[in-house]
Amino acid sequence: MKDVRFALIGGGFMGKAHSIALASYPMYVWPTDSYPVREVMVEATDDLADEAQKRFGFNRKSTDWQGVVNDPSIDVIDIVLPNAMHYEVVMAALAAGTHVICEKPLAMTLQQGAAMAELANKKGLINQTGFNWRLTPAIQQARKLVDEGVLGEIRSIRSHWIGEFFADPTIPLVWRFEKALAGSGALGDLGSHAIDFARFMCGDFDQVSGMQSTYVTERDKLDGSGKGVVDVDDMTSFIAKFKSGATGYVECSWASPGRKTFAGFELYGSQGSIIFDWERMTEFQLYEADAAGDRQGYKTVHVGPPHPGGQHFWPIAGYQIGYADTKVLQFADFFATLEGRQEKAQTDFADGLYCMKVEHAVANSIASRSWQSIH
Ligand SMILES: NC(=O)c1ccc[n+]([C@@H]2O[C@H](COP(=O)([O-])OP(=O)(O)OC[C@H]3O[C@@H](n4cnc5c(N)ncnc54)[C@H](O)[C@@H]3O)[C@@H](O)[C@H]2O)c1
Repeated sequence: MKDVRFALIGGGFMGKAHSIALASYPMYVWPTDSYPVREVMVEATDDLADEAQKRFGFNRKSTDWQGVVNDPSIDVIDIVLPNAMHYEVVMAALAAGTHVICEKPLAMTLQQGAAMAELANKKGLINQTGFNWRLTPAIQQARKLVDEGVLGEIRSIRSHWIGEFFADPTIPLVWRFEKALAGSGALGDLGSHAIDFARFMCGDFDQVSGMQSTYVTERDKLDGSGKGVVDVDDMTSFIAKFKSGATGYVECSWASPGRKTFAGFELYGSQGSIIFDWERMTEFQLYEADAAGDRQGYKTVHVGPPHPGGQHFWPIAGYQIGYADTKVLQFADFFATLEGRQEKAQTDFADGLYCMKVEHAVANSIASRSWQSIH
């Protein structure tokens, strides 16, 4: 077993999820050839670094990400920073010859995303984008059923990530509401997962046509100097055609009261369908059209050891797993690549870049009021 030393850059919301997963990894994925070590916690200020180091159980702390990416004792740079910082830190880490994990959305521009994917490949370094949601065993099982032909020919998908958490206009102007820092709003934050679900089930996109709204157009600035403009979307939806001929509807919102984590999809094929809702993430509904007419209907499949990734957790279906556990699965995918058991991470930078291409095509279709192709 080999120690794999991680530097985690950013100790906010996702810093917590990544840290829990790094800590619990060997408790679930055992035996393992790779043993993650929480080596350095990097935060923006001394106080934040101190707090995050203690809270998330890292050996060391730093406020100097440039120094850390050039530290030869670090094996993996794991980036959980605001979107506008991804590019600079990823490029520096790759230039230093370190494997990189980066949260989604991968970058701010397509040029940045392409440069990140290209440099990672050129250097032969493992690269992974944070599409942990698709690694959920129920979603992986849905894809397995698609591959096995259980649903027949895939005809359409309704894919969504809808929540209410930014409906409140008193929430201040954090980085997520500023285009210069986030790139986009609900589209990049939540839509990236809904797009990834749709592509995972239906294959590559052909064309998209979208619409979007911003409901809360200004918010209190963090420094108390009055109101600032919100220049990102609260809601984006789009219709899509896939290269396979399937069609889709993708919707994302962070301002839809009543919805907590309404993330998932309805997938329809010629022989059946699957409904998955993240709020009940350890089950899915399966309809098989060849059931006897007097017994037709959706059945609930409870996810457990027989399903992809489920074997790592508990021996009995129905014991449940949670959000941070999907990050355990993301690290399992990363280590499978590091250990040479697969050629590339299932959700590598190329996937992050592809998702950005769809997001940009959606934004262009809204600006031009036209269908846009994805190349
Ligand atoms: N995969 C998922 O499910 C998921 C969920 C939420 C967020 N994300 C992504 O994760 C990333 C981070 O989001 P978040 O919710 O954790 O944001 P956050 O604002 O909670 O955390 C970002 C952290 O980065 C720190 N930071 C800022 N500048 C820094 C610097 N120079 N050096 C070190 N640290 C610095 C901040 O102090 C903050 O603690 C975003 O790209 C977001 O889109 C992914």
